[in-house]
Amino acid sequence: MSNLKKTDPQVYNLIKEEEKRVSDTLEMIPSNNFQSKAVLEALGSIYNYKYSEGYPKKRYYQGQKFADDVEILAQERAKKLFGVPYVNVQPYSGSPANSAIYFALLEPKDKIMGLSLAFGGHLTHGSPVSFSGKYFTIIPYKLDVRGIIDYDEVERLAIVEKPKIIICGATAYPRIIDFKRFGEIADKVGAYLLADISHIAGLIVAEVHPSPVSYADIIMTTTHKTLRGPRGAMIMVTEKGLKKDPELGIKIDKAVFPGLQGGPHDNQTAAIAVALKEASIASFKTYGQQIVKNAKVLAEELTKYGLNLISGGTDNHLLLIDLTNKKVNGAVAALALEIAGIIVNKNAVPEDLLPPFYPSGIRLGTPAITTRGMKEREMIKIAQWMNEVINEISNENFPKDREQRKEFWKKFKQEIVANKKLLKISEEVKKLCLKFPLS
Ligand SMILES: Cc1ncc(COP(=O)(O)O)c(C=O)c1O
Repeated sequence: MSNLKKTDPQVYNLIKEEEKRVSDTLEMIPSNNFQSKAVLEALGSIYNYKYSEGYPKKRYYQGQKFADDVEILAQERAKKLFGVPYVNVQPYSGSPANSAIYFALLEPKDKIMGLSLAFGGHLTHGSPVSFSGKYFTIIPYKLDVRGIIDYDEVERLAIVEKPKIIICGATAYPRIIDFKRFGEIADKVGAYLLADISHIAGLIVAEVHPSPVSYADIIMTTTHKTLRGPRGAMIMVTEKGLKKDPELGIKIDKAVFPGLQGGPHDNQTAAIAVALKEASIASFKTYGQQIVKNAKVLAEELTKYGLNLISGGTDNHLLLIDLTNKKVNGAVAALALEIAGIIVNKNAVPEDLLPPFYPSGIRLGTPAITTRGMKEREMIKIAQWMNEVINEISNENFPKDREQRKEFWKKFKQEIVANKKLLKISEEVKKLCLKFPLS
């Protein structure tokens, strides 16, 4: 980065600081992952300069030969990898991709059914604070008392409400999604089934999670999570979807451009093409399998320490922990873990009585640390550190009163940065991280 260093030392230094922070800590936010140098090179390539509004062979600007070639390459690789007949690789990210799907298929106020945000769904699946909840009529479904999707309730609600789209897929759900059952429910009520596989796309490629291809009409995935590509998204239409509506692909294309977006980010498309190539080789399967093995060991170890995992464990890359039994608030735990070098996010748990800013739980996952090469042995160590951190703060007595909470949080933030026990763990974490450099 010699050019950047010369032109803008301030930004250069910030990048270096971030690089160091990431290198020295355990990145365990389940939606984050590290991309290969090849993906990053494509992302930072000459394609960044280009405008190519439209689609391959149907553009509004000249000079598109290689923009067309790279977009077709990305499309073909995605079709082959996921086994679908149609794909749009232009969405800037997951939220615009979901918007495009709704825009293609719905009129304002139409009904969509999605997993409630409070139970692990995504904002764009119908939260009242997102466009999806403001412009459409949302029928949220929930988890049962075990923390598993309540499929019978989904079916009952779908029969009563007759939504146009049923969304399956989540942001904070640790179990296998039964796409077959969702497909049967959607067929029964004549709804489109949208599988949002943003979190689990890489696991589906690695065959450690079933694929929705035979059951869904439309599949959306972000490209930057377990798939390990650049930030971006893809919308795929299945054979089933095209059979239901042969115009589905065309409708999606029109909704993405000119409906919602302008020119595609060709550099992002090139980087998606690279990621898809990487995901199609055998070592990616091993990577996906290791993500799940690591998550399972972590879940078992944390359970041994008395931590309460929602649904009792995990089948995928992600763990959701309710800290209520430890008398620790999720926000307090996330900050303490950060001081110890373990990066997770605070998260609401099902039926959470606390507000989203101070929820009862934390969410963590293994995709990024598995990319670094960590395996079961490291998971056992990480669980031990997490337990030590949580024990260290378990007597903090997070106040219920709003004003008292503000005061508590201010004081806690000041004091926790100097906690000797946590700082000692952060040194041990750093030592472990040194053995697994970011490649
Ligand atoms: C299931 C799911 N769908 C959609 C999105 C939105 O993706 P983005 O943040 O790229 O807009 C996310 C991101 O967290 C997600 O988890």
